[in-house]
Amino acid sequence: MDRLVRETATGDRQLRRALSAFQLTALGVGAMIGAGIFASVGSAAAGGSEHVGAGPAVTLSFVIVAVACGFAALCYAEFAAMVPVSGSAYTYAYATLGELVAWIIGWDLILEYAVGNVAVAISWSGYFQELLRGFGLEWPLWLGTDWRSAQQAAAVVAAQAGDAGLLAALDATTLRNAQALELAPRWFGMPFVFNLPAVLVTVGITWVLVRGIRESARFNTAMVVVKLLIIGFFLVVGACYVRPENWTPFAPNGLRGISSAAAIIFFAYIGFDAISTASEEARNPQRDMPVSILASLGVCTVLYVVVAVVLTGMARWDTLGTAEPLATAFTNLGMNWAAAVISVGALIATTSVLLVFQVGQPRIFFSMARDGLLPGWAAKVHPRFRTPHVTTILTGVFVAAFSGITNINEMVELTNIGTLFAFVLVAAGIIVLRRTEPDRQRPFRTPLVPWVPLGAILTCGYLMCSLPAKTWWRFVLWLAIGLVIYLAYGFRRSRLAERMDKGAAEGGGHGVE
Ligand code: ALA
Repeated sequence: MDRLVRETATGDRQLRRALSAFQLTALGVGAMIGAGIFASVGSAAAGGSEHVGAGPAVTLSFVIVAVACGFAALCYAEFAAMVPVSGSAYTYAYATLGELVAWIIGWDLILEYAVGNVAVAISWSGYFQELLRGFGLEWPLWLGTDWRSAQQAAAVVAAQAGDAGLLAALDATTLRNAQALELAPRWFGMPFVFNLPAVLVTVGITWVLVRGIRESARFNTAMVVVKLLIIGFFLVVGACYVRPENWTPFAPNGLRGISSAAAIIFFAYIGFDAISTASEEARNPQRDMPVSILASLGVCTVLYVVVAVVLTGMARWDTLGTAEPLATAFTNLGMNWAAAVISVGALIATTSVLLVFQVGQPRIFFSMARDGLLPGWAAKVHPRFRTPHVTTILTGVFVAAFSGITNINEMVELTNIGTLFAFVLVAAGIIVLRRTEPDRQRPFRTPLVPWVPLGAILTCGYLMCSLPAKTWWRFVLWLAIGLVIYLAYGFRRSRLAERMDKGAAEGGGHGVE
């Protein structure tokens, strides 16, 4: 652990310490308020093809997830203050649970950061098209969604085709996606459907990030202010249209609905932990890391619960299953101008989420490369901009490619399972380190150890279990691929392996610090 911290202060691998506590909190809020509260909340309340909705009780889902994240945030805060190194959970695992677990978690974090951003880019594209519609423009439908969503929607429409009443009850997103398949050009008989705006926004963000973190932090703070204003707008205007009868029945699908909604809207909370990837760029990490992690979680929890109360009071819960539920709540009332304001807000919000996660992912790769688990070129810093440009561009290419062709709900679920797993391992790391190194200096101490970490493990584990079986299979497959790569590369090339070899060659056997 000491070596990790020491290395952050050496040579051409040093990042610039530019971020204040306020900017770090803004980074957390910037990471959190995005596709989760602007998009996933709709399918959490109304249900979807693979899960039942919570109805107005989605408010309770937000509270349950806040408790789970509260436990996890207290664990992250201890680590972030103690090991202010840019790799987040990866670094904490490396320092406490060993190289193999660290690799697993680093690989797993790709699900949180890069796959999460795939979902956010898709949501960005949805609101972008909604906004164009507000101006009377229609983006080519086949260039605004993915093939699977289009195919699923076409199947739903075909199933309802015989019944005009059922067809009329379908939401606009489903109808548009089905139409996309009909309008798509065909190559060798296959319809070509592709989400172009999602790709373009990712490319734009990557370009901004290669140029520097200080500029992007300023840009981020401005966007966070705007998105808080838009959420404020939603609450104030929306509250005038709340009809309490919409809140009954409160929990139409009981505990099952509340739990599966919780497992989905967990996505809205992801991000307070991403602050820890900026540890090496914080001016005073020991004090500012815990403060900003806990502050951003607190701010967002309050906002989310109130948004959920107002949203489910404005519209009947079963009408909210669209890709843009906050705008839909206004469109249903005939208030298209308000829906347009929300769409602008959602675009800004999702842009800032993209920014923070595109900042985070390369810094995790950067830490892994520094430890020898990834090739050395990944840890290079740009000579002029002092940013990890190689990994930034790699992340950009990955996210852009997948956001063009994948389905948002599947990406959200995969992100959630990966992130929850990371939270579980970080909490376990706190318990382990308190035993193995009780005297290590801890600028911030997680209270009530082992109970708080155990609380994190149990609540996050419960949310993982509320995700569909398909998501579990994808997750296991992802981890298996990671393990194969580790055995083929990292295991032999890592810094720990190198030092062990050296130690053995010197006949010492104490090669590892
Ligand atoms: N919490 C982030 C969002 O909702 C990932 O977009």
